[in-house]
Amino acid sequence: MPQHRELTVGLIGAGRIGSNHAELLARAVPETLLAVVADPVEGAAARLATALGVERAATDLGGVLADPALDAVVITAPARFHAGLVEQAAAAGKAVFCEKPAGMDLEEIERVARAVEEHGTVFRVGFNRRFADGFPQARRAVDEGRLGIPQLLRSTTRDPGLADPAAVAPWTIFRETLIHDFDALNFLNPGARAVEVHAVADALVAPEHKDAGLLDTAVVTVRYDNGAIATAEASFSAAYGYDTRAEVFGSGGMATVGELAASSLRLYGPEGLSADTLRCDTQSMGRAYAAELRSFALAALGRPAGTGPEDPAEAPGVDAAREALRIALACIESCRTGAPVRLPASGAGR
Ligand SMILES: NC(=O)c1ccc[n+]([C@@H]2O[C@H](COP(=O)([O-])OP(=O)(O)OC[C@H]3O[C@@H](n4cnc5c(N)ncnc54)[C@H](O)[C@@H]3O)[C@@H](O)[C@H]2O)c1
Repeated sequence: MPQHRELTVGLIGAGRIGSNHAELLARAVPETLLAVVADPVEGAAARLATALGVERAATDLGGVLADPALDAVVITAPARFHAGLVEQAAAAGKAVFCEKPAGMDLEEIERVARAVEEHGTVFRVGFNRRFADGFPQARRAVDEGRLGIPQLLRSTTRDPGLADPAAVAPWTIFRETLIHDFDALNFLNPGARAVEVHAVADALVAPEHKDAGLLDTAVVTVRYDNGAIATAEASFSAAYGYDTRAEVFGSGGMATVGELAASSLRLYGPEGLSADTLRCDTQSMGRAYAAELRSFALAALGRPAGTGPEDPAEAPGVDAAREALRIALACIESCRTGAPVRLPASGAGR
C-alpha cells in the first residue's frame, strides 16, 4: 500500500515559479506535505498559502529554514540568494531542491558543494529538462549507443515574451535561461566536458535596454572534450509561444526532442493547416516540474527513483549545477572579450 505525505516541505520564495512548484508539492506530488510557504515580501507567502490551503505562511526565512518540523526545502527565491539559502538549509539538516542556478559564480557553487558534502544533504537543482518528455529517452538512446558517437548537438530556448526588460538582471540570458540548454547538452553528451565556449549575444527584442545590460538573444557554440560540437540559442520573445527543443546527431543516427504543438489538434480550413502552440513554461513543462519534484522527494525519503521512461539516467545535483554554470560564465567572458573562451578540462573549476 503506498504511503502518502511523508516528506514535510517548506517553500522559500512565493513568486512566479514558486507558485507553480508550491501547487505541485501540494497537489501533484503524493509524497510531499507542503507545510509552509515563506517569502520576505509581506503578504506574498500568505496569498499563496491561502490559495493552496497551506497551513502556514512566513516572512521570517531563518525561522523556516531552522524549523525542525521540516524535512526538506524547495528554494524558488531569486538566483542571487540561492547559494546562501542552500547553505543554511543544508546546515539545518534539510534535503534541498534549489531552482537554477545554484549559485551566481563558481565560488558560490563551491560553497554549495561544501555544504552538501559536509551535511550529507540530498540536493537537486531545477534542471527540469532532464525530466521533460523525450529528453530521458534521448539520453537512453545515447547511453545504449544507438546514435553512435555524438558529433553535433543543439538546444533551444525561446521564451514567449519579455514583459519587463528593465527588471532583467545583466547576463540573465546565460545564467538563468541558456543554463537549461547547457545542462541539456551536457546531459545528452554524457561523460564529456565542455572545453571551449563562444557566445554571441545582442538585445534584438528590446534594443533600448541594451545600454543597461540587457541581452535578449544569443547563440553559443560549445566544444566538448569528446570532439562533439554543440550550439545553444535563446530568445526572450518568440511570437508563437514557449519553444524548447534539443537534438543529438551522432555517427549512428539522430534524436530530436521538444514539442511545439499544445495538443494533437490540427485545424484544416480554407487558409490551410493550423495548430495551437505551447504558450509558457508552466504549460509546456508542467509534467517535468512535477516529475523533478517527485524525484527529489523520493531521493529525500531514501527511495529508489522510478524506472519509467520519464526518469532521467542522472538526476541533476551539484556536479550538473557546476558544469552548466561554468559554461554560462564562459559565455559572459566570451561576450566581454568577443573571443572564444577555453575551459580547463579538469582540475580548477570542476
Ligand atoms: N526551472 C525553470 O523553468 C524556472 C522558471 C522560472 C524561474 N526559475 C528560477 O526560479 C527562480 C525564481 O524565479 P521567479 O521567476 O519565480 O522569480 P520571482 O521574482 O517571480 O519570484 C521570486 C520570489 O522570491 C522572493 N524573494 C525575494 N528575496 C528573497 C529572499 N532573500 N529569500 C526568499 N525569497 C525571496 C520574492 O519576493 C518573490 O516572491 C530564479 O532563480 C529563476 O531562474 C526557474
